[in-house]
Amino acid sequence: MDFLAAEISGIESAGLLRNRRVLEGPQGARVRVDGLDYVSYCSNDYLGLAAHPKLVEAAISAAQKYGVGAGASHLLCGHTDAHEKAESALADFVGLASALLFSTGYMANLGVITALAKRQDELFCDRLNHASLNDAAQLSRARMSRYRHLDLEDLESRLAASVARRKIVVSDSVFSMDGDIAPVPQLLELCERHDALLFLDDAHGFGVLGGHGGGILSHFGISSPRIVYMGTLGKAAGVAGAFVAGSGNLAQYLVQKAKTYVYTTAQPAMLAEAILASLEIIGEESWRRARLNSHVATLKSALGNRLMPSDTPIQPYLAGENQAALEMSSRLRERGILIPAIRPPTVPAGTARLRISLSAAHGEEEIADLAAALQ
Ligand SMILES: Cc1ncc(COP(=O)(O)O)c(C=O)c1O
Repeated sequence: MDFLAAEISGIESAGLLRNRRVLEGPQGARVRVDGLDYVSYCSNDYLGLAAHPKLVEAAISAAQKYGVGAGASHLLCGHTDAHEKAESALADFVGLASALLFSTGYMANLGVITALAKRQDELFCDRLNHASLNDAAQLSRARMSRYRHLDLEDLESRLAASVARRKIVVSDSVFSMDGDIAPVPQLLELCERHDALLFLDDAHGFGVLGGHGGGILSHFGISSPRIVYMGTLGKAAGVAGAFVAGSGNLAQYLVQKAKTYVYTTAQPAMLAEAILASLEIIGEESWRRARLNSHVATLKSALGNRLMPSDTPIQPYLAGENQAALEMSSRLRERGILIPAIRPPTVPAGTARLRISLSAAHGEEEIADLAAALQ
């Protein structure tokens, strides 16, 4: 196993070594690490729900009713009425006919793309799509055509040239390391023109975008039988897992064909109950989104174009070289502020950045301190 040490030291000397922070308490706007308290801009807990008492209560009472482990896959006997309720509530929440729960967003992307696309098919993928979508495309063995980030002309010429049996445009709705939003209505129009499906990964839009937190579809006010929607539940929803929603027989088809659904233990029922509690808060407490948007506006007006262009709670500050990003992150940490330095391969070489992730749980003063520290 000597090659491991050599590889790790190569990673380290390129400024790319990744280390885990060990939290000594719940996720939130303030976290404790190594006995010290920090204001954290690291999590995707955009609405401040990860440790919300109502979610905790729902999980505890569901654990008392269903136990902790699901004990089997959904198709054997791990599927409960709590999962059923959560799936139908999630489908309603995003305005689609049916939904299917998965254990994680990564698994959902792998399962759905490989179930929908085979060798004879072609996937049209934005170059900045999440790693799970790239892995899914490769695993499917379909042809993978990567278009320039947000470039509709590039996408259209690839669609027009394709002779594939089935075409699927695949895009993050909110790009996870950039925070910018895909032009979904225009993507849908291209899909209609070229008879393609549109797979949207709304990991960072669900709960955050749209009037009631319904995500990217409600943000743009669109709906179409061509859309396959994936929302994650471990970010704004504050729980864990993901769901895939769509029209017609999509959920039923995925139960047959999505391997990451069939061959894995079901998500614990207590999480399904926590998801139901979370949906209630997401829908009812729109002040959380209002506060989040006001934090985004405050930070943008303080830092102007030093931030990369984004109107979402993901506000990246470009550092360039890996070492510069690491140094900025460590100097902020000395001031009691945690912000991760994001480096390749997560982002392209030369574009290392601080990924500032805002939450409704932050206070106005904290955002002002953050702006001052960055300045
Ligand atoms: C765009 C995007 N898709 C999918 C995922 C995977 O979701 P999960 O964390 O639930 O596996 C993430 C992040 O984790 C993401 O940022």
